[in-house]
Amino acid sequence: MLAQQRVVPPRQQGTFRPGKVCVRSARRSSVQATATLKVMISGAPAAGKGTQCAKIIDKYNLVHISVGDILRDEVKNGTAAGKKAKDYMDRGVLVPDEVVVEMVKSRLAQDDVKKQGWLLDGYPRSASQAEAIEKEGIRPDLFLLIQVPDELLVERVVGRRLDPVTGAIYHLKYKPPPPEVVGRLQQRSDDTEDKCRVRVATHNANVGAVVGYYKDVLKEVDGTKSMDAVFEDISAALDEAVTNKDPLEAYCKDQPAADECRVYE
Ligand code: AP5
Repeated sequence: MLAQQRVVPPRQQGTFRPGKVCVRSARRSSVQATATLKVMISGAPAAGKGTQCAKIIDKYNLVHISVGDILRDEVKNGTAAGKKAKDYMDRGVLVPDEVVVEMVKSRLAQDDVKKQGWLLDGYPRSASQAEAIEKEGIRPDLFLLIQVPDELLVERVVGRRLDPVTGAIYHLKYKPPPPEVVGRLQQRSDDTEDKCRVRVATHNANVGAVVGYYKDVLKEVDGTKSMDAVFEDISAALDEAVTNKDPLEAYCKDQPAADECRVYE
């Protein structure tokens, strides 16, 4: 099938973001359709999920769905879901499935997500949440699990600061904020040592059951490295997932000299 593709001169070609492989315009839409990655990212509180998600969406253009962020917005806006969720979040335990599951399912059904692919951050967090989306046939191409020992997590939590204007995540020691934004930084109400310990225990009690659903697509990442080094490992895993998913990428790995595999910057 690939050998029958029409050759289009380089000037008519567009850049396909993941992997920077330029493909013929005639194939672009089908290639993009097959390359809409579905990724889950998991890890203990402050393992670095949010930090890595910002880098991932910048490079791979996936839609970032952070369940924690959605819930915080609901709380801030005083919605019925937010009122139910608040007490659980304040205690550092899981918000009940009746609030979370439908929220995630309906977000995953939206057009931008279908078109661009998704990066689901903080879901599923229990066997029942995994089961709920399994029933809908929703499965990731890649399940990233960022591993950080418990003893490092408290320091990361208490030193975290958030910029409400840009959404940037800082750390007083590991990613110091520039002086001009210091005055507006905020700290999350659940970012205390006590609450962090409850959140870590909740994570540890559930992660094994969740991972059990995704062993075939699991990639464990060492989250103790620097933020950039963690992203290098994540990028390698994502590039491999794109290659596995995209027939043109896979073909070009074996046939780099073929017309349709030339790379144009
Ligand atoms: P959520 O908002 O998802 O919180 P979390 O899982 O506890 O994770 P965090 O956001 O705290 O950390 P992160 O891994 O994103 O770390 P970050 O990149 O910021 O959930 C909050 C609550 O909502 C839950 O407790 C629960 O109540 C509820 N909830 C959410 N999802 C739910 C669900 N599915 N079901 C039920 N309830 C749900 O990094 C942390 C800090 O470390 C930053 O300061 C950062 O700069 C620094 N850092 C990051 N990487 C590195 C590195 N490599 N080296 C050094 N420092 C680093």
